[in-house]
Amino acid sequence: MTDLLPKHVAIIMDGNGRWAKARRLPRTMGHKKGVDTTKAIVRHAGKIGIEYLTLYAFSTENWSRPEDEINDLMGLLRVFLKSEAADLHKNNVRLRVIGARDRLSDDIVKMIENVEGMTADNTGLNLNVALDYGGRQEILKAVNDAVKLGNLIDEETFSNMLFTTDIPDPDVLIRTSGEMRISNFLLWQCAYTEFVFSDVLWPDFSTDELNKAISEYQNRDRRYGRVESN
Ligand code: IPE
Ligand code: IPE
Ligand code: MG
Repeated sequence: MTDLLPKHVAIIMDGNGRWAKARRLPRTMGHKKGVDTTKAIVRHAGKIGIEYLTLYAFSTENWSRPEDEINDLMGLLRVFLKSEAADLHKNNVRLRVIGARDRLSDDIVKMIENVEGMTADNTGLNLNVALDYGGRQEILKAVNDAVKLGNLIDEETFSNMLFTTDIPDPDVLIRTSGEMRISNFLLWQCAYTEFVFSDVLWPDFSTDELNKAISEYQNRDRRYGRVESN
């Protein structure tokens, strides 16, 4: 059992569509409400002293969704980046976006670069947003880079060739909405991460739910292949 606060919390924010469907609303409304949850969770994570928070916002596979939904999601991302940038900076948050950028619109890439640049020296919460992110694609890219270098590499070198350079592996991965799969998120980084699943849909996920997930993590015995720790 660990009483320690997890240093790095990763979240698969899932269930926006089902939240909207249950209310006979368009899926976009679920995503919109999901953004409100995201803002509240980011604020709370910073307040309770989490050092790293990594949020899965858009996967490489999400490009297969209907064009309208993708456009709505990108629209919400624009609004989030525009409206939250100053606040994040004021709250000493360092924002990093992990994933590929070549399929994102130029204006979004610029906004990302601006916020990353502006917050680069902040020392509070490290907020990582996974966007057009896929674990397999990330690993393959690193493998190809390593092949080009032509040297054999070790775990540490390989880790530093991923998007998550300098970011410690997640201590706990939370997935909302009752789904129990990894969906191509942080495949390398989650080798010894504790998984916590919540049935709550992301738009309904509250700061209390986050606290509950953290307590569940604190009751786990992380053995890393060894025998019991006490
Ligand atoms: C998560 O909610 C948001 C993204 C994947 C962008 P979903 O849109 O996957 O919601 P469900 O799973 O359909 O309920
Ligand atoms: C995972 O959710 C991706 C994000 C939360 C961004 P999905 O809803 O896309 O995952 P699957 O399709 O249910 O595995
Ligand atoms: Mg989903």
